[in-house]
Amino acid sequence: MSIINSLNKRRSYYNIKKSSPISDEEIIKLVQDVVAGVPDAYNMQSAKVVLALGKKQDELWDAIYDVFDGQVKREKIDSFKAGYGTILYFLDKDIVKGMQDQFPLYAENFDIWSNQANGMLQHSMWVALREKELGASLQHYNPVIDDAVKKMFNVPASWKLIAQMPFGEIVEEPGEKELHPIDERVKIFK
Ligand SMILES: Cc1cc2nc3c(=O)[nH]c(=O)nc-3n(C[C@H](O)[C@H](O)[C@H](O)COP(=O)(O)O)c2cc1C
Repeated sequence: MSIINSLNKRRSYYNIKKSSPISDEEIIKLVQDVVAGVPDAYNMQSAKVVLALGKKQDELWDAIYDVFDGQVKREKIDSFKAGYGTILYFLDKDIVKGMQDQFPLYAENFDIWSNQANGMLQHSMWVALREKELGASLQHYNPVIDDAVKKMFNVPASWKLIAQMPFGEIVEEPGEKELHPIDERVKIFK
């Protein structure tokens, strides 16, 4: 499959189910390979992930519902809980701080680069999951859920939660997406 094909197949999938065309071992390997393969500034490797599968998937989304205390509708949370698993994306503030101390001239860039690298990782994972017929979406219930997530997965205090990516076997393809004319977004000069 070409990269353009894979990029175009990735969409936000909100209708997913609790099954997977690939085994847990294959999912774990895919997540590890994508994390290892995505670059970061100065090779600092500030992005960290937690993969929640099985009962942890259900516990995670129930905890998110509880933290919001009814402010997010049950059916919305259940649409994510209905997935096979969730990938939680973090950046490690200790790694960023270490780089800032080491390279004070660029200090303010490291936070930005760390966030950019995290976005690159999220997108790469999204595309890689879709190549395996797993649909995903990108959610942001942080920072409200930060404490609950940290407690549930016992993550180090330095890990800052950036995004949540529920995924599962695809039930329904999303509708057509409106795109701005490409000439307004890409300028060519020769
Ligand atoms: C940085 C970023 C943040 C996003 N945050 C959310 C979000 O919090 N909730 C959500 O449902 N979708 C979120 N999305 C999904 C976008 O709305 C979606 O990617 C966009 O509308 C294009 O649709 P597509 O993913 O189907 O191509 C986010 C996407 C990006 C790239």
